[in-house]
Amino acid sequence: MRITVCPGATAASAHVVRRIAAALRRDPSLVLSLPTGRTPIEVYDGLARLVARGRLDFSRAVTFNLDEFVGLALDDPRSYRAFMGRHLFDRVGLPPRRAHVLDGAARDLAGECARFERAIEAAGGIGLSLVGIGLNGHVGFNEPGPGLVAATHRVKLTSLTRRANAKPFGGDPRRVPHEALTMGIGTILGARRIVLLATGRSKARVVPRAIAGPVTTWLPASFLQLHADVEFVLDRDAASRLG
Ligand code: PGA
Repeated sequence: MRITVCPGATAASAHVVRRIAAALRRDPSLVLSLPTGRTPIEVYDGLARLVARGRLDFSRAVTFNLDEFVGLALDDPRSYRAFMGRHLFDRVGLPPRRAHVLDGAARDLAGECARFERAIEAAGGIGLSLVGIGLNGHVGFNEPGPGLVAATHRVKLTSLTRRANAKPFGGDPRRVPHEALTMGIGTILGARRIVLLATGRSKARVVPRAIAGPVTTWLPASFLQLHADVEFVLDRDAASRLG
C-alpha cells in the first residue's frame, strides 16, 4: 500500500491527474473505472485541461463508472451519467460507446448488473480504478453492513449517504433515490491498480480506519487493504488523524 499526503485538495487532485495521465500515455486503450461526487471534480478538470492542450488523448480509453442511482431517466441531469458527461466525457471527447455507466432506469436491474460485469470482462478487466470514500467508509455504493456483495448489484442507500448526496436534489435527502446500482467490492478489487482519493476534514475520521483498521464489511473501504497495488492519495486535512 502506498500513502501519498499532499498539502491540499488541489495538489492531491493534481497528483491523481498525473497518475491517470501517465497510465493513459503508457496504454492509450486503458480501461478506467471512475467515481462521481465532490472529490473527483478537480481531477476531471485537470484531465480536461490536458486534453484541451493536446497533451492527453481519451479517444481509445474505456471507462466504467462505479455506480448510479436507481430510477432516474438516462437524461436526468441529477444522474451520475449526466454528472460524468458534464465533468469529463463531453470535455475529453470520450465516445459514449466507450463510457459505460450503469442504467438505473433499466427494466431488468439484475440483468443490467450482469451486462455491466460482462462488459468489464469483455474490455479485458479494469486497469486503473479511481475511487472515493464515503463518510461511512463506503466505496462505490457498497454500504457498511453484515456482508458485502462481490459483483455489481442493486443496493439500498443508507440515510447518511442519501443526506450526503442531497445537493442535486434541491438539498432534500427525501428526494434522493433510495436505491442504486454499484460495482461490487470484488469487481473493484479486480482492478489491476486502485487509487483512492480523499480530501477534506470530513474524511479525517474514516481514512485511518480504511487504511489501518480491521478489514471489515462494516467499513467497505478497508477491503482495499487486501489489494496488492493500492495508493491512498490524501490532502493534509483528510490525513490529519493518521498516526
Ligand atoms: P464525495 O463522495 O466525493 O462527494 O465525498 C465520496 C463517496 O461517497 O464515495
